[in-house]
Amino acid sequence: MSKDTNTYLLQVKDLRKTFPDASQPIEILKGTELTVEAGQNISITGQSGSGKSTFLNVISGLETFDSGEVIWGDKSLKSLNEKGISELRADYLGFIFQAYYLIPELNAFENILMAARLKGKITADKKDRAQEMLEKVNLQDRAKHSVLKLSGGERQRVAIARALINQPKVILADEPTGNLDEKTADEIIELIFNITEYAQCSLILVTHNPQFAKMTHKHYQLHDGQLIKS
Ligand SMILES: Nc1ncnc2c1ncn2[C@@H]1O[C@H](COP(=O)(O)OP(=O)(O)OP(=O)(O)O)[C@@H](O)[C@H]1O
Ligand SMILES: [Mg+2]
Repeated sequence: MSKDTNTYLLQVKDLRKTFPDASQPIEILKGTELTVEAGQNISITGQSGSGKSTFLNVISGLETFDSGEVIWGDKSLKSLNEKGISELRADYLGFIFQAYYLIPELNAFENILMAARLKGKITADKKDRAQEMLEKVNLQDRAKHSVLKLSGGERQRVAIARALINQPKVILADEPTGNLDEKTADEIIELIFNITEYAQCSLILVTHNPQFAKMTHKHYQLHDGQLIKS
């Protein structure tokens, strides 16, 4: 029996993406397929340059695609304009990057709250949620700290809290431990798994670390433009 498609948070069907190039176009995604269910965490590994970041950019609507389907819940990105995509993205997705991308002028608490501010007025509820997330990432005593004075691991904790403040359905993490030492990387991965479970959101983790990849419900390798389950 075929599965009810509404149970998927994310569906990617026959996705194709080519970058133009001076000599010949570079085909990056060649019929890529993926489904993600609620509460599921998956990992993607693959050689440098295989297209992992491109895939995340395309499925989050930050980058266009040539053909195929990207569906968030029951909404196909093809049915939305740019404004519609960015409004839904703010509700639906949270992002964690290798390089943190915090705002240097703001303290830890303000950085977390910034993601909520982009969606509208800051309410007492949102401040409570920011405080809750700050505590969840164990940085309650660093709230007023300039992010420039935080360690790499602490900066990534702020970014994790920021990714979760709007209660997204899916977290996309692109090599979130790429800039961290081994011990801190282990702590951050554990935190990402725990906090996404606590927040009941799904996770797509791109990593070069095979140990981390093995820890997810499903593991795929991006090879020659296709996601291959391993
Ligand atoms: N805007 C662009 N224009 C042209 N080519 C691009 C563009 N963005 C990415 N590429 C090319 O697409 C390929 C895939 O890049 P991508 O960054 O997605 O790889 P990746 O798997 O994330 O690699 P890494 O593991 O090093 O992060 C690379 O060959 C890259 O040069
Ligand atoms: Mg990448």
